[in-house]
Amino acid sequence: MKEKVYIGVAWPYANGSLHLGHMAGCYLPADIFARYNRMKGKDVLMVSGSDEHGTPITISAENEKTTPRAIVDRYNAEHNEDLKHFGISFDLFTRTTTENHEKVVQDVFLTLYEKGYIYKKNVDAFYCNNCNHFLPDRYIEGTCPHCGNEKARGDQCDECGKILDPLELLDVKCKICGSTPEVKTSDHLFLALSKFEQKLFDWMEDKKHWKSSVLKFTQNWLKNGLEDRAITRDMKWGIKVPVEGFEGKRIYVWFDAVTGYLSASKEWSQNVGNPNKWEEWWKNKQAKHYYFLAKDNIPFHSLIWPSMLMGYDDSLNLPYDIPANEYLCLKGEQFSKSRGLGIFVSNVLEKFDADAVRYYLSINMPENKDSNWLWDDFVAKNNDELVGTYGNFIHRVATFTQKNFGEIPEQGTLDDLDNQAIKKIEEISEEVSDALEKCRFKQGLRAVMSLAQFGNFYFDQKQPWALIKSDKDKCGTVLHICLKLANALAVFMAPYLPFSSDKIWSALGHKNSVHLASWDDALSDLIVGHPLEKPKPIFKKLLLGDFVIEADPFSKLDLRVAKVIDAKDHSQADKLYMLQVDLGALGKRVLVASMKPYYTKEEITGKNIVIVVNLKPATIRGVKSNGMLLAASDGSGVVSLLSPEDASPGSEIFIEGIPREPVDVLEFDDFKQVALIVNEKQEVTYQGKTLQSEKGKIISDKEVKKGAKIS
Ligand code: MF3
Ligand code: ZN
Repeated sequence: MKEKVYIGVAWPYANGSLHLGHMAGCYLPADIFARYNRMKGKDVLMVSGSDEHGTPITISAENEKTTPRAIVDRYNAEHNEDLKHFGISFDLFTRTTTENHEKVVQDVFLTLYEKGYIYKKNVDAFYCNNCNHFLPDRYIEGTCPHCGNEKARGDQCDECGKILDPLELLDVKCKICGSTPEVKTSDHLFLALSKFEQKLFDWMEDKKHWKSSVLKFTQNWLKNGLEDRAITRDMKWGIKVPVEGFEGKRIYVWFDAVTGYLSASKEWSQNVGNPNKWEEWWKNKQAKHYYFLAKDNIPFHSLIWPSMLMGYDDSLNLPYDIPANEYLCLKGEQFSKSRGLGIFVSNVLEKFDADAVRYYLSINMPENKDSNWLWDDFVAKNNDELVGTYGNFIHRVATFTQKNFGEIPEQGTLDDLDNQAIKKIEEISEEVSDALEKCRFKQGLRAVMSLAQFGNFYFDQKQPWALIKSDKDKCGTVLHICLKLANALAVFMAPYLPFSSDKIWSALGHKNSVHLASWDDALSDLIVGHPLEKPKPIFKKLLLGDFVIEADPFSKLDLRVAKVIDAKDHSQADKLYMLQVDLGALGKRVLVASMKPYYTKEEITGKNIVIVVNLKPATIRGVKSNGMLLAASDGSGVVSLLSPEDASPGSEIFIEGIPREPVDVLEFDDFKQVALIVNEKQEVTYQGKTLQSEKGKIISDKEVKKGAKIS
């Protein structure tokens, strides 16, 4: 029987579009690994699906004033499209709202309950008297007890990554209405993680091959002891708890989602008409299970899911490796939907070929540390490496051969360099395999690229343009070797650049897709005499500037919270103050503002305000103003500062869904394009969306009329 490889990939929440952070974090590495293993003759089962339950979804539905169902249907459809266009070759990408999934989750739940791994406990939980219900984790915000982050969610702190119990949080607020919830008791069901500690220790024994970050993180958790976790929630959206007395509650979304790894395998088996086929991966001790995810998901896969599996059915396979990635960042910040940061897959694929993006994400993959998406670096690597090295080799060989031979020429006698070329293919085959077996994707790609480099070197050394005149047979041999290199490159690149590899492969006369070929076909004989068509370049050069994804004019602004520390009169003008403001890590600055008629020095000093920090400095009546404060005026004479309340000086102001990509120097005309107004709730809005700080919405400091303009 073929060797089995199971690949589980983190299930994306169906409440937002997939962005490049998702791709670099798990989908792309999983796909490279799957494609490679298939070519190695392994039987791969790669599954995932949309994560459609839980508070991330209900919060989105509330924000958009629609139903959870509408949200998940929209995003599941979009995820499917994006993944397909990006070339992610799932055997099944399903969703957590299927009947099959519900059945499997309830079975796992009930089995664990019956075996005593799930037990009932009366616990304190936050109840919002204003909203009249218990607050699930994500409806709670407070200060993280471990790192002091003031925006920690009830379930996890995004700063330090610790998983939290909402009751540990300090200074707790209801996320919906902002009031302080009270603690009430209610029955919940708990997963007895503590009972699995020893088993987990034993299982971890032979996990020395794990990435050190994943290994350390998991070992630390385990050393600190596992606490039992509540796995029921007070909400309506989700999978029903199959235990009497819990009709009003739902199963915790993480318990639900990780079980998808098993339920999706079963669904796939049904789809292929062999309902027990999943057992070949799950009950066969030779099968290896890999899980791909980004670092914030580690404990759920390295501790919680294994515990659930051990308790449910100890004949099922546990993870073999969890090569979790770090984050892909944009300008040093984590891609994230809520902060409006991100480059969405669908937008990117409107402008660029999937392979160009896959190349950059692969060579720049956040394997061991965070990496950055930089547009100019994307252009440079595309032009210099993908087009300049790999594309150039393929194109010059194809063009020259087609023009002079019209078909794949025969191979004559080989000299040293020719033999070296063939040996090189064998070496690179090994090198790439070694890297990919260990999930070292960057290293693998660099090895493939070194073969393309060798190709260019070989072509230059052999000078076929001279040989064609002096010795046509020898020239044919050289081109034959070049095409052998191209053939091997198509195979080795297939996991990384599936679309272009397939084109090269078919140009060489192979009937089937390169993705059905075997890794060893890299060295198989060429189809001598196969007619060559006039080649078109497979990769495109990009120009910096003509490609940037249409940015909203708001993106260019760098708005920050500033604290006024001093106000002085301007000696040349009676309406102006010279304000000294504190911008936290960005330092202190002086700006000139005509606020004197509206605020006394005492009123304005100590206030937190909003300023544009990247506006071109202006000299106002002889004093240089470094930045501009924003104020609202409603035409009736009231002028009001904008209040970010107690957000910290220097912190960013943003709008959900609009990436922050501030330019270095903002022209005043660009600023004028951004029409900000105050709405009836006194919130500052742009195109109907509210400006936010880390602490919440930006509001007008004084009451102004609806529609008041900001300048
Ligand atoms: N939806 C989660 C996230 O986006 C990941 C779930 S992974 C699973 O962070 F294993 F639980 F499915
Ligand atoms: Zn509330």
